Amino acid sequence: MSDKAVVEEVAVATTAKPSFWTRVKAHFRKWWWAHLIALVVVVLVVALPLVYVGYPNIAQGDISDSTLSVESMVISDPSPDRFQLNQRQVIGTDSIFHPKIYEFDAEVSLAGSPVFATVTVPSTRADDGVVVDINDQYVDLTDADAFAGFSTAVMMNEEFELNIYGRPGLKLGALPKIHVNYNKTVTMKGLNRLQGFGIEVHLDPDRDDGNNANGTVFIPNPSVLQLSMGNVTMDVSSNGTALGQSFLNDLVLNPGNNTVPMVAFLNNTRLFPILGALPEGVTTIPLTIVGSSSVYNGEEIPYFTAALAANTLNVDLDILEVLESS
Ligand SMILES: *[C@@H]1O[C@H](CO)[C@@H](O)[C@H](O)[C@H]1NC(C)=O
Ligand SMILES: *[C@@H]1O[C@H](CO)[C@@H](O)[C@H](O)[C@H]1NC(C)=O
Ligand SMILES: *[C@@H]1O[C@H](CO)[C@@H](O)[C@H](O)[C@H]1NC(C)=O
Ligand SMILES: *[C@@H]1O[C@H](CO)[C@@H](O)[C@H](O)[C@H]1NC(C)=O
Ligand SMILES: *[C@@H]1O[C@H](CO)[C@@H](O)[C@H](O)[C@H]1NC(C)=O
Ligand SMILES: *[C@@H]1O[C@H](CO)[C@@H](O)[C@H](O)[C@H]1NC(C)=O
Repeated sequence: MSDKAVVEEVAVATTAKPSFWTRVKAHFRKWWWAHLIALVVVVLVVALPLVYVGYPNIAQGDISDSTLSVESMVISDPSPDRFQLNQRQVIGTDSIFHPKIYEFDAEVSLAGSPVFATVTVPSTRADDGVVVDINDQYVDLTDADAFAGFSTAVMMNEEFELNIYGRPGLKLGALPKIHVNYNKTVTMKGLNRLQGFGIEVHLDPDRDDGNNANGTVFIPNPSVLQLSMGNVTMDVSSNGTALGQSFLNDLVLNPGNNTVPMVAFLNNTRLFPILGALPEGVTTIPLTIVGSSSVYNGEEIPYFTAALAANTLNVDLDILEVLESS
């Protein structure tokens, strides 16, 4: 009985004064459209800056913080105004986002110098350890002088800085595609003046190709570059006396130590007096070797010639070896 009484009492009270929730419901039934507009406005006010300011900023920050390391760079089939490029590089990033990076054109330069070419970088995903391969791409030189400067810097330095610049498209999940600045300067090992260069010469008077000596050249290459330099000619002199030229045919400089055959023409009228004048017990003569040209498919390759010519190599030639086999 008493339970029923309570229920009735409550029912009466409800009719007389609507409860809080009933009033809320009534309010929304009448004003739902105003709330919907308010909600949409709030969502847009929060989401739009996130999508159009926050996301591009985060994406740009992550791209700027990412690293790039060049694992190999192969320059082949050179001509005065272009070459073939194969390059492998690895992306480093600690971002939790792994957006797609669209294929883009990257301007390449020696950091601080004019751009020498544009390279097409294939589409990839920005993730730690992702390998990006540039395969068999013919690269046209837009500034051959700048590339000669680059080649010379590679030849003459222990390290050089390669700059890569572009504006790739980037897309993360369902978010819109945006563009970011890709501006990376990669420090790479150079040829370091071919330090450690060595030469071994044997007189070979019976050759029928106009030369009179043969031998091997030892060329250390501490970089990750593989360079097809074609037929390389080097001027050989000793203490200011021009002795002749040595020829390295189809020189391909691989990373690491290279031992390559060479032939030479040495002017005996000049060489023998030098050997004859050697003091008792001295078995070496100083040689100065400077590259004078790189010729590939009959064309001189100015950028390789410039790099070779910039580097004067000084070695001691063991004359016992020279005469041993003559
Ligand atoms: C790339 O960054 C370097 C160093 O921060 C800067 O000097 C250069 O102007 C930048 N390149 C471009 C095209 O913005
Ligand atoms: C180099 O010359 C020596 C003679 O001095 C000869 O015995 C040798 O076969 C030659 N080597 C080559 C690769 O021509
Ligand atoms: C090098 O040449 C100069 C003269 O040109 C001479 O005085 C000097 O003795 C030479 N040195 C050697 C090691 O032959
Ligand atoms: C290259 O040759 C140098 C000198 O002979 C030697 O010290 C070095 O270990 C060699 N490097 C490789 C990778 O074989
Ligand atoms: C060799 O040297 C002599 C003496 O300097 C010179 O007269 C001659 O022309 C040179 N020969 C060649 C083929 O360069
Ligand atoms: C180097 O010279 C030889 C002989 O003249 C030639 O057969 C060869 O094709 C040349 N190599 C290159 C890469 O031009």
